[in-house]
Amino acid sequence: MITLDKITKRMGTRLLFEDISVTFNEGCRYGLSGPNGAGKSTLLKIIIGSEDPTSGSVSLPKKIGFLKQNIEDFHDHLVINTIIMANKRLWDAFEERDRLYEEEMTDAIGMRLGEIEEIIAEEDGYSAESEAEQLLIGIGIPQEFHYETMSALPTDMQFKVMLCQALFGNPPALLLDEPTNHLDLDSICWLGDFLHNYTGTLIVVSHDRHFLNTVTTHIADIDYETVIIYPGNYDQMIVNKSSMRERSEAENKAKEKKVSQLREYVARFGAGTRASQVQSRLREIDRLQPQDLKKSNIDRPFVRFYPPEKRSGQIVFKVNHIGKSYDDISVFSNFSFEVARGDKIGILGPNGRGKTTLLKLLAGELTPDQGTIERGYEANIGYFPQLHGDILDKSKDMTAFDWLKSRKDSAYDQDIRGFLGKMLFSGDDAFKQLSHLSGGETARLILAGMMLLNHNTLILDEPNNHLDLEAVSALGIALEEFKGTVLIAAHDRDLLERVATKIIAFEGDNTVRFFKGTLQEYYASLKS
Ligand SMILES: Nc1ncnc2c1ncn2[C@@H]1O[C@H](COP(=O)(O)OP(=O)(O)OP(=O)(O)O)[C@@H](O)[C@H]1O
Ligand SMILES: [Mg+2]
Repeated sequence: MITLDKITKRMGTRLLFEDISVTFNEGCRYGLSGPNGAGKSTLLKIIIGSEDPTSGSVSLPKKIGFLKQNIEDFHDHLVINTIIMANKRLWDAFEERDRLYEEEMTDAIGMRLGEIEEIIAEEDGYSAESEAEQLLIGIGIPQEFHYETMSALPTDMQFKVMLCQALFGNPPALLLDEPTNHLDLDSICWLGDFLHNYTGTLIVVSHDRHFLNTVTTHIADIDYETVIIYPGNYDQMIVNKSSMRERSEAENKAKEKKVSQLREYVARFGAGTRASQVQSRLREIDRLQPQDLKKSNIDRPFVRFYPPEKRSGQIVFKVNHIGKSYDDISVFSNFSFEVARGDKIGILGPNGRGKTTLLKLLAGELTPDQGTIERGYEANIGYFPQLHGDILDKSKDMTAFDWLKSRKDSAYDQDIRGFLGKMLFSGDDAFKQLSHLSGGETARLILAGMMLLNHNTLILDEPNNHLDLEAVSALGIALEEFKGTVLIAAHDRDLLERVATKIIAFEGDNTVRFFKGTLQEYYASLKS
């Protein structure tokens, strides 16, 4: 059980939530929902104690599993160690022990080693490795990978390792921040089944409506500067939330009407002889004061990609017999196709099959091992990488405004502000530090950069990861209306159905298929 008692959190000048008291019970699976920047990640950090609330307190079970969003941070570590690191006290002890053994032995060091052995025993350190191995096997990662470095594994496997990290030590509560980003449909299904069987307290953040619907027993929704728990799944929450809102709005209207009638009475008779009736009406007015209903923070960005005056040539990419492999593993070979101006190409396929590699090759971030890619005349490419860090370095001491301006120095400040405003960075939000941006805010800023630069060709690698439903739908409309050429990889079926007029599909047995038709037509072709 996890209990929040009167938690308030301010971020800079903004109030994220005020005075929230909620309980998350054992055996229940809570989806934490709310738009980008609402404070979902912040709330999880407050629960695990890596961020302090402005006021209030949290009570927790002794151990808590936390799925981290930052897979990249573990790239250089061994798979097995990545899991054991979940127990920080134990991991620190192992590291200190290794360090001390390298030094010359003294009495002090001997004493310290004794203490460390005690810590290791207390934390079940001697069975840590076998427990980690069992988790890995259970989740379907074969033994040969256990002592590899993380970066040698495909993304979905890395993710499964992170999940084992969260489950290490069999914690009675599990917190997951956007676990479905980077996962293909099969892995999402697998995760859904897996979570169904978890018996502790689960809190999961996700912008994936289908996923929340299948996994959760309750939704904790962050809006109106508070958290409200609704029983049922995401779709049921939407219905309940709007009917609750309508009810409070109707109550407020009724109160306002009553108050204005009472005021009229007071105005008319206040100076007269009906003093006691006037007094009682004044008291009634006080009692009825309608509450200020807080404004919802759900908002819709305005996405539009404005192509430059110059169109690209008729053929945007001519791909001739390209091949690419990493460490002897072939991603694709002898693959040829053409992209014509105005094509909207959806790219699908399971994790680790090469969607990102293909897009990087087209964007010019990688070069093929064999074959050539000819870029058409005047093709001006905008690229949205799968990992935001590839284009936007959050460790830089820079504001959102500065970053956008750095994409196009010649732009006027007011135009920069205009694009920021469209992407919901209004007022002071334009000057947020990059390091403070939430996942969704970062994605919105990268999109603002693409809007600013007037490309005629857009290459997008899972741009919907991190984005909330409003933003994904605004992006879908913008790509559908865009007059240029689009190549987009995504696991979001709704988005691809809206945008794609052609498909590149990574299929079984190392084949890649170029299909001239929509996603629906592609699936139909598989059945026939
Ligand atoms: N140090 C800070 N100073 C000011 N604002 C901050 C700071 N750190 C974070 N923020 C802001 O706090 C808000 C909440 O961030 P958080 O990461 O919790 O959002 P989120 O709900 O997880 O969003 P997303 O769906 O995009 O992941 C964001 O608007 C973010 O920009
Ligand atoms: Mg977040």
